[in-house]
Amino acid sequence: MTARVIDGKTIAAKVRQEVADGVAALKSEHGITPGITVVIVGDDPASHVYVRSKERAAQQVGMNGSVVKLPADTPRELLLETVAGLNDDPDVHGILVQIPLPDHLDEDEVVKAIDPRKDVDGLHPENVGLLFSGQRRFAPATPSGVQRMLVEEGVEVSGAHVVIVGRSNLVGKPLAGLLLERGKGANATVTVCHTGTADLAAETQRADVLVSATGIPGSITGDMVKPGAVVIDVGTTRVPDASKKSGYRLAGDVIFDEAAEVASAITPVPGGVGPMTIAMLLKNVLQSAQSTVG
Ligand SMILES: NC(=O)c1ccc[n+]([C@@H]2O[C@H](COP(=O)([O-])OP(=O)(O)OC[C@H]3O[C@@H](n4cnc5c(N)ncnc54)[C@H](OP(=O)(O)O)[C@@H]3O)[C@@H](O)[C@H]2O)c1
Repeated sequence: MTARVIDGKTIAAKVRQEVADGVAALKSEHGITPGITVVIVGDDPASHVYVRSKERAAQQVGMNGSVVKLPADTPRELLLETVAGLNDDPDVHGILVQIPLPDHLDEDEVVKAIDPRKDVDGLHPENVGLLFSGQRRFAPATPSGVQRMLVEEGVEVSGAHVVIVGRSNLVGKPLAGLLLERGKGANATVTVCHTGTADLAAETQRADVLVSATGIPGSITGDMVKPGAVVIDVGTTRVPDASKKSGYRLAGDVIFDEAAEVASAITPVPGGVGPMTIAMLLKNVLQSAQSTVG
């Protein structure tokens, strides 16, 4: 292997420490404890694991982390009332509704019901608009985490060609928005690919920085990577693995061993982008709480 392996855990720990310091300062100077509430509807086991880890991570940095658990058959009106109650609660600075929601609930409607100043996921149309008009309030945590990793690793993004595979509202599109900004860790030339892209390999082979977020394990092979490129694998897919206690393992999009022979640096899965996501989410909660004191 020739590529340097980017250690997301270490970078995320640094971000979490920054957040913990900010939380301590807010408490001592203003008596405010930042608070995040996660709303979860239904009993999808994977979602419950994610929600518990967010709650724990919030508490570890000194925040109030709480979870509102609602049954799978929760009516639309009750979910919207719950969100409205959190919007009005001054102790709650960040609201997150765990996706996916049961089929009878409209995710877009619920996201729009969140007060945009508490939308720490950065998915409310107001926050999306602010990001793309260069007035960022909250950027979604995963793309922010990717950008922070690149900065921490000293990857020069300005002037570089970044190719993003995946155009979701959660990852691909906001990452493009962040990297198109003029500031530090940005100013890139960005190409966004998707299933309608005519020749994916031709695009990825031109990438100085290749970010994959397809959710399809093995979709990025070594021959799709330009020699010396930096490869960021956002993909996190559960694949059955009888040798694991849980019965599954997490797989990225990239065939790691192949890409590592060609790239200059690469993120592993797990231990790459994943830990950054929760750290950057906590950063958004801190920012929201700080904004209440001007
Ligand atoms: N590490 C983390 O913290 C974190 C956070 C968020 C997401 N993730 C992971 O990242 C992955 C993507 O998540 P997401 O929410 O963005 O998924 P998504 O909404 O399913 O979007 C996947 C995107 O990839 C594109 N795509 C799929 N197969 C492709 C192919 N063969 N060639 C080109 N484009 C292809 C799709 O194109 P179309 O639009 O044309 O369908 C779509 O834009 C998942 O594995 C998810 O678990 C990880």
